[in-house]
Amino acid sequence: MILVKLREGQGSHQLQQFGNNAGCGTGNYAKAFVDMGVGQITILDASTGMLEKAKSKLADYMARGVVKEAIEAKMPPIPFPDESFDAVVFNLVLNHLDIDNPAFPNSVKTLKESVRILRPDGLIIISTVLTTTVSRIQWFSQLNMEITNRYNASVMPSLEQFEQMFEDAGIKCIQKINTLGADIIKNYYNLDDILDESLRAPRPYWTFATKEEVADVVQKVKALKAKGEYEKWVKEHDLTSTTGVVTIFFCKPN
Ligand SMILES: C[S@@+](CC[C@H](N)C(=O)[O-])C[C@H]1O[C@@H](n2cnc3c(N)ncnc32)[C@H](O)[C@@H]1O
Repeated sequence: MILVKLREGQGSHQLQQFGNNAGCGTGNYAKAFVDMGVGQITILDASTGMLEKAKSKLADYMARGVVKEAIEAKMPPIPFPDESFDAVVFNLVLNHLDIDNPAFPNSVKTLKESVRILRPDGLIIISTVLTTTVSRIQWFSQLNMEITNRYNASVMPSLEQFEQMFEDAGIKCIQKINTLGADIIKNYYNLDDILDESLRAPRPYWTFATKEEVADVVQKVKALKAKGEYEKWVKEHDLTSTTGVVTIFFCKPN
């Protein structure tokens, strides 16, 4: 998570402009916020390893004081005083807070906390991948819908669930955008990786598949390849460049 303080005279519309220009979650968001000229940021993550990587990437910025702190903490709560930031940015984080809990209690509490630490007229920016994106936009998750439905039910909130979370947390979405392209998904167009267990296994999606389902997918891909139709099938089932992968919500407290 990134907590942003603006400079004197800057408005939250400038952060919306940033969101419109953003790529996706490569871990460089904090750097990009500073490079676009915000006053100061603080970063927070529950993982020591992630934070160490971020700190080494941002060492110069920390030395200059534009990245003020790198805090290790598990949300909720968010350990900062009331009204301390102009923007709170959740980049591909909210969907990790309530694994297998469709009531999303931790996400709602975390959003309420973000309202508490926001200054008046502050902005909450949430980027995510939606269930519909997983099931209709990415080519590989259309090979076996059983895996996809299980993956979605476990880790991805739908648009309707996000809207419910916003209502429960007392915030409203003022703009939503989709970013085009599959850059967020490493090796997205390495079509044969799917046939190699060592390349497939580290990807979170495949941890939701049974052995039989993996065998089914491998068999499907081999059959498409044998007919010379694999690339055509992928093209037909990949809408990332026209429909987008990452959805960004810009929200304000009610
Ligand atoms: C998919 S990564 C996104 C990382 C980063 N925001 C980016 O865009 O590159 C999800 C991050 O959420 C962090 N995370 C998961 N649960 C958390 C929690 N309860 N509190 C704080 N961070 C959490 C993980 O440690 C991980 O770094």
